[in-house]
Amino acid sequence: MTDIEIKKGLAGVTVDYTAVSKVNPETNSLLYRGYPVQELAATQSFEAVAYLLWYGELPDADQLAAFTAEERANRALDDNVREAIDLTPLDAHPMDVLRTAVSLVGASDPAAFDSSRESDLAKSRRLLAKLPAMVAYDQRRRHGLGILDPREDLDYSQNFLWMTFGEEPDPVVAQAFNVSMILYAEHSFNASTFTARVITSTMSDLYSAVVGAIGALKGPLHGGANEAVMHIFDEIGSAQNVGPWLDTALAEKRKIMGFGHRVYKHGDSRVPTMKAALDTLVEHYSAQGDSARDLAALYDALEADFVARKGIYPNLDYPSGPAYNLMGFDTLTFTPLFVAARVTGWTAHIMEQAASNALIRPLSAYNGPDERHIDGYVPDA
Ligand code: ACO
Repeated sequence: MTDIEIKKGLAGVTVDYTAVSKVNPETNSLLYRGYPVQELAATQSFEAVAYLLWYGELPDADQLAAFTAEERANRALDDNVREAIDLTPLDAHPMDVLRTAVSLVGASDPAAFDSSRESDLAKSRRLLAKLPAMVAYDQRRRHGLGILDPREDLDYSQNFLWMTFGEEPDPVVAQAFNVSMILYAEHSFNASTFTARVITSTMSDLYSAVVGAIGALKGPLHGGANEAVMHIFDEIGSAQNVGPWLDTALAEKRKIMGFGHRVYKHGDSRVPTMKAALDTLVEHYSAQGDSARDLAALYDALEADFVARKGIYPNLDYPSGPAYNLMGFDTLTFTPLFVAARVTGWTAHIMEQAASNALIRPLSAYNGPDERHIDGYVPDA
């Protein structure tokens, strides 16, 4: 073997600059285009944050009005996308449904191969507007319900909840959802964003990069963790079962979903804001019975026990999974919600990569068999 240093999983490797966001694990901060994400979550709509990620500045009132008017006008799905969703099996994972639907939007766009910034911005805005309808429709059809027309009188988060549940959302719920979308929007060179940048680096198109990113996000070590957190909660059942459940899970060397992070080792900068949103939801839904408080008790017990045993802290997926559960989303829909938010960060990175491109092509160290030859093979003279 050689003395080449292998950086397994690219851990600790800095591969490029980005002006989109800054993750600082030392100060436990996350900045989008310079703004702390907590400030954005407290003061902005998800639409304004999407604008910030793409254009580099927060919109003024006129810019936001034009941006949201376009978003509201573009929410409905084209017939072929609805038909494609209908063609996917009802038991297909919603991430596969979404991957298929986004791919079809791309295949139907005559400008798919126009990679000018203006064209890519238009595609990004279109995906932002249409993803909620795809996600909502897929949850509804799994429950035997038809697609609902979008409502132009509602903002992005309110309409997302309307299209999923067919009820005007309570403002408390819509605000918690808005916060989750902002927190999920962007996180530097995470696995799915890096996937999108790799695809873009070959001068492929934006839709292909987004479809690839959806595939990367699906895995439980990345975005699939918010779904996996809820499966763990279902397995554990209640707060008093946490101790014995953890004994077994750790003895089996299972990864506890929703904990740990490649970059943050002392806690995820986004968790306190999402936990506060979850607390608000628990308070809100407690009026309807004990199940919200039971969920919160399980959340606290698992966090306290796991952190005490391993010193590994929750990541964003830990509070967002239970929050989406309380809102009424089914567990399979959680990671598609992450897609709807992260499409903003992905596309900001796709445009950044395209503007200053270098093909991403790392090296590998070979550790297979030494050179050998086919018996009896005689090369042509
Ligand atoms: N449960 C149990 N042990 C863990 C966990 C966990 N969630 N996370 C890390 N560890 C342990 C590992 O087993 C390893 O122990 P060892 O040194 O004894 O072998 C050590 O901590 C280091 O872990 P790595 O997996 O090497 O750390 P890495 O930086 O590669 O992994 C990752 C980060 C993949 C997120 C990991 O923490 C994990 O699998 N977490 C669960 C999945 C999850 O929640 N993913 C969401 C990520 S955030 C997001 O996408 C929004």
